[in-house]
Amino acid sequence: AETVSSLLGDRELIVASNRQPYSHERENGEISVSRPAGGLTSALDPVMQSAGGTWVAWGSGDADFDVADEDGRVGVPPESPAYDIRRVELTDEQVEGYYYGYSNQVLWPICHIDPAKMNADTAFWEHYQRANRAFADAIADETTEESVVWFQDYHLGLAPRMVREERPDAFCMQFWHITWPSWDAFQACPHYEQLLDGLLANDLVGFHTERYCQNFLDCAAMLSGTRVDRATRSVVYEGGRTFVRPFPLGIDADNRQELADSTETTAFWESFRREHDLGETVAVGVERLDYTKGIPERLTALERFWERHPEWRGEFTYVQKASESRSQIDAYGELQAEVESEIERINDRFGTDDWVPVVYLNEHLPKEGLAALYREADLGIVSPRRDGMNLVAKEFVASQVDEPGVLLLSELTGANEELGDEAVTVHPHHTNEFVEAIERALSLPKSERKRRMHDLRKQVHSNDVYAWMNAQFRTIEAIRRGREVAAKS
Ligand code: G6P
Repeated sequence: AETVSSLLGDRELIVASNRQPYSHERENGEISVSRPAGGLTSALDPVMQSAGGTWVAWGSGDADFDVADEDGRVGVPPESPAYDIRRVELTDEQVEGYYYGYSNQVLWPICHIDPAKMNADTAFWEHYQRANRAFADAIADETTEESVVWFQDYHLGLAPRMVREERPDAFCMQFWHITWPSWDAFQACPHYEQLLDGLLANDLVGFHTERYCQNFLDCAAMLSGTRVDRATRSVVYEGGRTFVRPFPLGIDADNRQELADSTETTAFWESFRREHDLGETVAVGVERLDYTKGIPERLTALERFWERHPEWRGEFTYVQKASESRSQIDAYGELQAEVESEIERINDRFGTDDWVPVVYLNEHLPKEGLAALYREADLGIVSPRRDGMNLVAKEFVASQVDEPGVLLLSELTGANEELGDEAVTVHPHHTNEFVEAIERALSLPKSERKRRMHDLRKQVHSNDVYAWMNAQFRTIEAIRRGREVAAKS
């Protein structure tokens, strides 16, 4: 953790993302704080706690602004503030168009290569531009030429160009947390030119995998006025150069391990187990209710598994932890309804008086609760249709401090590049193979599970979120040094 600050030196770090890591809510006059579900904020919060600085994000409710100063600033975490959030206020209409609209009905389906889910309403684009402007204004206000501005994800595709115009000397970089698709897929985006122009205002753009970098370079090559330099993996454009590099995101593995080891976690599990009449063997899935996560496909495989294996009925329970997500969007509302009715149907079909095949948890779970599920599960099933990285796979691994379980991992995830060798691979659309993977995972001898989990844990601990952060800051240093040398000669 110390290296993060030492790499930063005197420079102030400004992170910008749509989602904030803490939100304030008012209930019966009392203010409470919650942490949203999703990989991005949970991964970056520990990094910011150790590096300090300012995190610019969308403030989503009145209470968010009641507790903040007039610039929307508030120190977090609330127990012992280590950095500031600066909240950007957006109108309901802007949120509708920019967040529910352009970000999640255009960019999200395109990047996850599911263009049939796209809804390219023209008003969405207007709002996306305006919201990016609102972010850029707040960011520019925080930024000096010594700052490092670190944009996160697909909500802020235009803001880098806008900040660059105001603060030409700041170092701008962006990490894109979702897949970057091939040109053939990205071309479906009606505003690919503007988005590429926005992103190429950064000095550095990072993705989870080398393939996403190559895809991005291919797309950049299609924008007029660019020169793509494959040897240095960079793009020359508008008088600047953007380096493109892979930085696979990790988690705060030590912290997850500690949590999994805690007495609170053990206590949670004991009461959970009693309450739910679980079978001897437990599998777990944890996700936002998002169509990219492949939950219905997984339920189909599980149903076929119980169909083929009556001997496992009563013995094998699947626990689905689900968080409601983006539910105003039709595709999400429909997905949630589908998941819930499928679970009901499967439970009606196979359930008995003292066994429920699928335990569905959609209420809030304390962090010990999640840790307990991860730690006690014999199988962790991560089977997205498409996922840029997937941190649930890593959280499961880091929490496996006891009896070693098995990770089932979809080959359509970024995480598969790092964890695929020691996980049991699944394909969300290949039901028979999926069922065989469950069978294989259940029959792995303990020594084999131990060996695999050991290697996975090593991987997740050594490539943790701090390593991810440090790699980016070392790259910044290298870019700066390179520029100094070039300036002198
Ligand atoms: C993904 C995205 C994040 C996002 C998270 C949760 O991980 O890459 O940017 O924050 O999903 O989604 P939400 O729409 O609730 O922020």
